[in-house]
Amino acid sequence: MFVTFEGIDGSGKSTQARLLAERLDDVVLTREPGGSPGAEEIRKLLLTGDPDRWTAETEILLFTAARRDHLERTILPALTAGKTVISDRFADSTRVYQGATRGNLREIVDQLHKLMIGREPDLTFVIDMDPETALNRGLARESGEDRFEDFGLGFQETLRHGFLSLAHSEDRCVLIDGNRDVAAVAADVAARFAARS
Ligand code: ADP
Ligand code: TYD
Repeated sequence: MFVTFEGIDGSGKSTQARLLAERLDDVVLTREPGGSPGAEEIRKLLLTGDPDRWTAETEILLFTAARRDHLERTILPALTAGKTVISDRFADSTRVYQGATRGNLREIVDQLHKLMIGREPDLTFVIDMDPETALNRGLARESGEDRFEDFGLGFQETLRHGFLSLAHSEDRCVLIDGNRDVAAVAADVAARFAARS
């Protein structure tokens, strides 16, 4: 089974992906951008530097290149070996971050996805959260990978609406309320996972 976590920056995806992975056997926990050596190199280009370092169109190409490598070298081999793959972000992030924040580029995102990726998760947890709290959580980490957080609160609000509309339009998506403590969110995720697997 291929499971993904999606949501705005700082919504708790990494924490919840890790906690779900800890409950399961035969699992590969991975992330985007990254998840393979080549894709981790591309990650550095995307997440550091000025917000205007890349246009949304160039980002689509870089994220898709990273995803193709991640898919070929990490995700598909693990699924073929019968493992569960849990990825912290996948193609839905490109649909929302690149497809719907700086003009409507969704058609380009969809075409490139069809051409180069062509794979959807079996189950996607979309963690919804108040953008102001999430942004503060994310920036507090001081990870040095804050290029998208640096677009500001309005950007995060647009993203939130993008993720909500995606969650309502796809059967594979389960919407999770992230405005609760870590254990409560994790218990919800585990119950919804059990119901779908
Ligand atoms: P994301 O991967 O979505 O950016 P993280 O899981 O890295 O989010 O969480 C961002 C920060 O918020 C981390 O410092 C984490 O410890 C903290 N955090 C995660 N979930 C919660 C929660 N439910 N309540 C309070 N803090 C949280
Ligand atoms: P991540 O490390 O998950 O950041 P955070 O912990 O802050 O949520 O993801 C890195 C950033 O890359 C995040 O701001 C979202 C962005 N991103 C895109 O814009 N498009 C994509 O396709 C992906 C996978 C991530």
